Order: sequence, then structure tokens, then C-alpha cells
Amino acid sequence: MTDAPTFVVFGATGHLSRTKLIPALARVLAAEHITDHALIGVGSRSRSDDSFRSMVEDSLREAGTPPNVTTSFVAAPIRYLAVSDDASYDTLARVVAETEDAAGLPQNRVLYLAIPPSQLDATVMGVQSSGLDNGDGWTRLVVEKPFGTNLATAKRSNEIIHRSFHENQVYRIDHFLGKETVRNLLVFRFTNSLFEQTWNRRHIESVEITVAETAGLDGRAGYFDESGTVRDMVQNHLTQILTLIAMEPPVTMDAPSIHTEKVKVLSAMRQIEPDHAVIGQYTPGVVAGHPVGGYLEEPGVPQRSTTPTFAALRVHIDNWRWHGVPFFLRTGKRMSKRSSIITVRYLRPPICLFHAEGTCSGHQNVLRMRLQPDEGFDLLFDVKQPGDETRIEQIALTVNYDAVRAGAADAYETLLTDVIEGDQTLFVRADEVEAAWERYEPLLDRGDIHPYAAGTDGPEGADRLMLPDEGMWARL
Ligand code: BG6
Repeated sequence: MTDAPTFVVFGATGHLSRTKLIPALARVLAAEHITDHALIGVGSRSRSDDSFRSMVEDSLREAGTPPNVTTSFVAAPIRYLAVSDDASYDTLARVVAETEDAAGLPQNRVLYLAIPPSQLDATVMGVQSSGLDNGDGWTRLVVEKPFGTNLATAKRSNEIIHRSFHENQVYRIDHFLGKETVRNLLVFRFTNSLFEQTWNRRHIESVEITVAETAGLDGRAGYFDESGTVRDMVQNHLTQILTLIAMEPPVTMDAPSIHTEKVKVLSAMRQIEPDHAVIGQYTPGVVAGHPVGGYLEEPGVPQRSTTPTFAALRVHIDNWRWHGVPFFLRTGKRMSKRSSIITVRYLRPPICLFHAEGTCSGHQNVLRMRLQPDEGFDLLFDVKQPGDETRIEQIALTVNYDAVRAGAADAYETLLTDVIEGDQTLFVRADEVEAAWERYEPLLDRGDIHPYAAGTDGPEGADRLMLPDEGMWARL
């Protein structure tokens, strides 16, 4: 495949570009044997082409990129420009065209916006006024999450983007959709009739989606303190997992069919009631044996910040398949363990036939889908222990996705390949991102923050989201 694209990366010197995007781009171009390309970095501070090129080389080295991949990536044209006003966007458009011209590239452009939502509208308008979106080849606009900061801003950004971009040119990124184990969800559900037959309110009692992190801010206070967990994780990553778990089978596996089914889930999702959410912020504690400071001690976090670093929610989807089945969502930073797991709890049999000491000795069937880091799944079920007495024990049928652990493409590589190939399946459509914001609107900027010590599984208050007979949050 030789589509010879020019990558114009806005926010090119930011954390995301340095740690994920640029290393993934180099690997994708090498894997796809694309040698004709150009990289134009764009930022707000001025810097020379050479210093940008050195930054690119450093990022690739830090990411462990093979030397031959680095050599061929930096052999292509690499430029850097700072933009602020309309005139600088005009200069950018001119530099991009000149670079393409000099390298004989056909003006196929990936405009990658790795910038915070507050800069999105101005950047898109700058692109539009300069004509950068109007080359002779194809142009694709990639927008990092979070897309907007609430429903109103997301709508406004969509409206601005659609002034010159057709929706089929827009790739709203949620990198969780590029993870192997998340991509596996639809395969798991829709090829295994054993599970799909029982994937509904008649057989499932509850579904829990937990994305726990041990990391803190990693120097991203500037971005994170403006966003907080609901905007940074819930509205996008957890919601995407939720829609893949809850959606109906699409008519085909093409992007419009899948997006349409995901939007239907969001439309059926009840707006979150205030007492169905617990949000928290970490205080000092111990993570993996090391003492760590609290959120308010993180460099760059304002003294009295009430930004949440944890959220736990009880969500209801009022449709035919899921009515009455609670979905529990939980995510947090500085928790006891890094672990992303979906726990599907099945209803118990109607009558308990086996008792021990007056209580039912049967357990609930549970499907645990481990998204990361120990990718795989466990199916928990009951068996009789050998012996005269009828003793029941719960055992796990465990499947490990060793191939994923052995290093399948990382999420950004998968998504960048799709952008280059023009496949929007793993991206988020305009109406989908708006529907997701609408559901979480009551949670944004809530003040009642529950503290939790770093290294724990979040505030105790989160337990009250589950009714007494609904079990407990999965242990991390
Ligand atoms: C990012 C969030 O989108 O996802 C981060 O901004 C979070 O706050 C990260 O840490 C988690 O992604 P991963 O791939 O490391 O699980």
C-alpha cells in the first residue's frame, strides 16, 4: 500500500505525541512499507525543524523503536511550525504544500489534532481558513479524546468541523477501541452463540466494567485538572466498552452499522441519577509498596482542586435486552492495581438444590473478561468436589490471550493504520459522541468529592451503588 500521506500533527511536542503517537506512526509506516511520507509538527511555541527532528528521534528511542525503523522514519521530510493567528495557518498551509511538492507527495493529508478540547475549535477554523483541508488528494481529520468538554461544546465542535469536512473524513479517536481485547468483544459476543443466546436480562444479573490504574498524572496536570475522570475516562473509554457489551448485532460489520447500534445503546441509557454516582480524589497512600502523594500534591495541580480522579456509577439501559440489569462502571487513578476487567454476573438457578449449613452452596456463574494487563477470560462455574459428601466448589475455566501479551500491534498502531486505509469502524461518530455527553451531563463538575487513599480501590462510598443482593465490586 503506498498512499504517501503527509501527517500534520497539532500538539506535536505534547506528551501523547511523544509517548504514543510518533512511535506508533513510525512502526505503522514501516509495517505498511510506506516510505513516501512527511511529518509536519505543529505547536504553539516556536522551535526549529532540527530540534523537532531531535525530539522525534528521542521519542522513538525511548519507545524502543528498532533502529532501522527510526532511520527510515527520520529520512522523510520533517518540519515544525508554530501557529497562533490566521497568518501562521496560511504559512502552515504553504509549508505543507511546499513539502509535498518537493517530496513528490500527492497531497493526501492526515491532520491529527492531539490537542486539548479547549483548542479544538480555533485549530479547526485555522485549518479551514488556510485551505489546509483542501488539498488535491484526500484529507482526514483525526481528533483526540475528549471530544468537547460537555454536550454544548461537542455540538459546537461538530458543527465547526462539518463546515468543511464530511463526516466520513472525521476520525474521533478513542484509543481503547484499538486495543486487541476491546476489538475482541464483538467477535466474542457475535460468533459464540453459547454466550450470545444468554446475553440479556433473562440470564444476566449485572455487568461491571472496571478500568483501574495505578498511575497518577504522569506530569499531565495541565490537561487532567481541566478534565477529571468523567471527561477523561468515563465519557469515552468506559462508555465505548459499555456500548460494545450492550449493543445489538449490527446488520453488517461496516462502520455505519456498528456506529448506529452503539448510538441506540446510548439513546436507551438513562441519564445518571445523582445518587447513582460516587466520585472521588486520591489522597496520599502507598501504591505497589511505594509511598505516593495525593492528587493535590501532584506538580501543577491547583491547591484546592476538586477535580475527580475516580468515578463509580450505576447505569441503566432501558431497552428490550437490558431493562432491569444494572451496569456498574468504575475507574480511577492511583488504585491498588492496574486492571481493566468486565465482569458479567449471571442469574442464579431459580431454586437452590444444594445446601450446606442452611445456606445455598451454589455460586453464581461469572464471566470475567480481562482486557488488560492479563488479557484473557475466566468462566467461573460450580462443580462437585470428589467424595461421598456433596460439596460444591467454584472453579475457573481460564483462557489467556498469550498472543496479545506477546506483542500484537498497540492500539495507536491499529488506529493509525485504519486512518491511512480510510476505515472508520473503530472511531466515534458525531452523534455518538454527543449522545455520550448528554448522558453524563449531570455528573460534570460535581463538587461532592469522596477522598480515597492512593493504593486502595476507591472511596468506600462506591459500595452503596450496589444493592445488598447485587454483590460487590470485583476485587482487583
Ligand atoms: C488516556 C487517558 O486516554 O487513557 C489517561 O487520558 C489514561 O488518563 C489512559 O491513563 C489509559 O490508557 P491505557 O492504554 O494506558 O490503559
